[in-house]
Amino acid sequence: MSTIKLHDKYFIPYINKENISKYVQYLANIVAEDIGKNEVPIFIGILNGSFMFAADFVREYPYNCHITFVKLASYEGTNSTGKIKQLVGLNEDLEGKTVVILEDIIDTGNTLSEIYKIFKNKNVKNLKIATLFFKPDVFRKSLPIDYIGKSIKDKFIVGYGLDYDGLGRNLPDIYQLKEKE
Ligand code: IMP
Ligand code: MG
Repeated sequence: MSTIKLHDKYFIPYINKENISKYVQYLANIVAEDIGKNEVPIFIGILNGSFMFAADFVREYPYNCHITFVKLASYEGTNSTGKIKQLVGLNEDLEGKTVVILEDIIDTGNTLSEIYKIFKNKNVKNLKIATLFFKPDVFRKSLPIDYIGKSIKDKFIVGYGLDYDGLGRNLPDIYQLKEKE
């Protein structure tokens, strides 16, 4: 791994694919242990960032499960708060099911709180959140994050599904934004 350039910025190697794979395995195991063999969960990957993580996660999940993907789209609302978030692509009936959200990264928690608002109305049996990466220093919410792969510093990262302005999602390893010298 060496320094890479995406658009105008440079990124340095941060977490290699072998270590990413360890965090994914660890996460799949703690989720499986918690949910157990008898409950068949629905994993919901939040696009676009979680596509790679979700694909690897379910391959490590040792029991039966469902996997689906949704996208959070925002549109200008007519109310005073402006932007309203909506889930696109959810066709499954979630009533009475154990739902586990798969997030690539939780930063401020704004995305997570939108997701919570949306899923609260769906009468799920259990709503759990699993995130591969978590930035504890910037998290501003009191929402529970049930499963965390790895907590990281408040630095912008790319690779393994995560992008900088559309680029970098295809990188198998994770890179960190290079500080100005
Ligand atoms: P939050 O709403 O601030 O928690 O941020 C969640 C979303 O922002 C993630 O799902 C990512 O799409 C994006 N994001 C947050 N931090 C990073 C990062 O370090 N690199 C790339 N995308 C990020
Ligand atoms: Mg995302």
